[in-house]
Amino acid sequence: MSSPTFYVEANPAPVAANERTRLLADPGFGKLFTDHMAMIRWSDAKGWHDAKITARGPLMLDPATAVLHYAQEIFEGLKAYRLADGGIALFRPEENARRFRESAQRMAMPELPDDLFIGSIEALVKADANWIPDLEGGSLYLRPFMFASEVFLGVKPASEYLYLVIASPAGAYFKGGAKAVTIWVSDHYTRAAPGGTGAAKCGGNYAASLVAQAEAIREGCDQVVFLDAAERRWVEELGGMNLFFVFDDGSIVTPPLTGTILPGITRESIISLAREQGITVREQAYAIDQWEADAKSGRLVETFACGTAAVVTPVGTVKSRDGAFTIGSGGPGQITEALKARLTAIQRGEAPDPHGWVHR
Ligand code: COI
Repeated sequence: MSSPTFYVEANPAPVAANERTRLLADPGFGKLFTDHMAMIRWSDAKGWHDAKITARGPLMLDPATAVLHYAQEIFEGLKAYRLADGGIALFRPEENARRFRESAQRMAMPELPDDLFIGSIEALVKADANWIPDLEGGSLYLRPFMFASEVFLGVKPASEYLYLVIASPAGAYFKGGAKAVTIWVSDHYTRAAPGGTGAAKCGGNYAASLVAQAEAIREGCDQVVFLDAAERRWVEELGGMNLFFVFDDGSIVTPPLTGTILPGITRESIISLAREQGITVREQAYAIDQWEADAKSGRLVETFACGTAAVVTPVGTVKSRDGAFTIGSGGPGQITEALKARLTAIQRGEAPDPHGWVHR
């Protein structure tokens, strides 16, 4: 199948308009869902087939469905925004399509062609456009994912897969909104090892982060930060966000993509925007003890995390078993705020888009 034509099944929208308006006033993150979902099947015999937009609802899975046993699953995250002129836009969806193919390769799964990936998202956003929240910072978070749907217990790449897209109206990812977050340094657990799946967006990476994230919460922090698996020295990323460090000379450092870090689309956009503004950005390994020394000496003035869901989030305090240190004033820094404002203005069509990142 080559053309992204989606068959749209009738759906008696389960949520009434006035109830939808009430729910959209405070959507939170990841708990509210729209009326429809996109779905495409893949099998060895037929390739990609049966593309449709259908009523969102539970999936019936045989208990021997392969993904439930061996976790052959990948996903993406991107947002649809309501623009000032009333239009709707996605941000760099072709980058999500490319990363989804790369994750599929790493997990021995079939690669979804980019036109089907983008076509499925466009079709779902059209069907559920009235679910885009009309509030500051609001968006429709889109979650494309694919899993091994073959009913078989042998350990091998499956011969059948199901690709789905669901949509979730979203406000701020963190409960505190745009406030600075507190980070816990995981000295025991690591997220990804060289040669592993760290650069793929697969559910397993997130599953492996949860015990460390739970430890972070127990320690009174919002998020966990992982160090590299080989030396336990180099700062890698948070449970689901990349990190940036801002120095007193105005330059920025972010950990390099060595295969153990997720190649974030927000990360890449921030690097481009910063460089265009004349900021020196180095993709360079940064050690945990250096982070502490630089924060204490004042050489490091800001740290922020970024990702599709969390956008740009300042990091205020870093805590570990050895103590804690605060970065700058402990609140949002100037460069963090400026880069966030620039990025979100482009995403929402409020600033020129010289890169063609906004996909109407
Ligand atoms: C995203 O930022 O879209 C992610 O997939 C990360 C997850 C923590 C929500």
